[in-house]
Amino acid sequence: MATVSELYEARVKAGQLAPDDAQRGVLPALDRLVRDLAARPAPQAQKSGWLSRLMKPGNGAADTPPVKGIYLWGGVGRGKSMLMDLVMDAAPLDQKRRVHFHEFMQEVQGALEAVRKTGQQDVVRPVARSIAEKVKLLCFDEMQITDIADAMIVGRLFQILFEEGVTVVTTSNRVPEDLYKNGLNRQLFLPFIALLRERLEVIELASATDHRQNRDEGGQVWFTPADSIARSHMDLLWREETAGAPAQPLMLEVKGRKVEIPEHVGRIGRASFWELCGKPLGPADYLAMAEALDLLFIDSIPRLSQSNYNEAKRFVTLIDALYEAKVRLIASAADNPERLYAEGEGAFEFERTASRLHEMRDADWGRG
Ligand SMILES: Nc1ncnc2c1ncn2[C@@H]1O[C@H](COP(=O)(O)OP(=O)(O)O)[C@@H](O)[C@H]1O
Ligand SMILES: [Mg+2]
Repeated sequence: MATVSELYEARVKAGQLAPDDAQRGVLPALDRLVRDLAARPAPQAQKSGWLSRLMKPGNGAADTPPVKGIYLWGGVGRGKSMLMDLVMDAAPLDQKRRVHFHEFMQEVQGALEAVRKTGQQDVVRPVARSIAEKVKLLCFDEMQITDIADAMIVGRLFQILFEEGVTVVTTSNRVPEDLYKNGLNRQLFLPFIALLRERLEVIELASATDHRQNRDEGGQVWFTPADSIARSHMDLLWREETAGAPAQPLMLEVKGRKVEIPEHVGRIGRASFWELCGKPLGPADYLAMAEALDLLFIDSIPRLSQSNYNEAKRFVTLIDALYEAKVRLIASAADNPERLYAEGEGAFEFERTASRLHEMRDADWGRG
């Protein structure tokens, strides 16, 4: 069985990765995790007899404490997600799952809602338990907490997950202490930070290189400024991509609501920024769009700032969903990604989005 270091060095040797000393610096911690997971007793051995199960604190909780996880944080494009993928590949167990944190929390909120309907008092515990029954290693990409509903439950949720023997590996753009920064009722969130510090090894990936910026630019898919010239380029590409077929609105059903993309031909969609981000849509809506499309044209992305903060926030969520689903993007915008949200509250979060937009401009991006 290969260690994370071995997988990494094999990729360097094959020319798939450029050697990066900062990345190499965190490999020993990732190797430690995989080694500890391998040394852990098999799950069957833990579920010995009804008596020992009764004696355990959480009734179904594991005998042995879970392997200490990893919280890998650092700037965008440093290779956090790539390293986490190597951990996933190397981890010697079947019950493992890699999921975007956003998506995971949505599933959790959905499950909580379902349990609430049954009238139970404690809704978090059954949900956490059913997760822990299925997975022993949870790898989250991009832990970030902006939603108060999430902020108020993560402490308890993860406490139970840890009690039930789940190991967590996560990436984040921020040090734990900066999660949910300036959030409402933040004092209620602080125990979660303490829990992360206790249960996870916190490591900074302080690479000097943004590997995304180093990738080659492909054919033009980002038109700026969003003027009439950009519009005619977009129209031309639209006709090419759709082979001139007539477009129709695409109606998606999300949690019983209708969500519309104004124009589509097959799995190619087109909408303006305002049609996508000017309405109160949420992550579920954007995930559904990403699911339904291979290519999205977005017209007229404006400059973003505090004055259109809600729209900007939705745009971040939209791009996350498109990025995760590897949807291709063709857009016209007021400026280049890194200058779209230049300053003010929210600009920090946007750095990652800008970096992703850069990556999505690559010729070889996407599944189509
Ligand atoms: N050492 C490396 N050499 C070449 N490409 C890399 C290297 N590390 C990361 N990449 C690539 O750079 C891009 C950004 O890496 P990623 O892991 O997504 O960064 P992060 O999660 O820190 O934002 C990805 O396409 C990834 O495959
Ligand atoms: Mg990442």
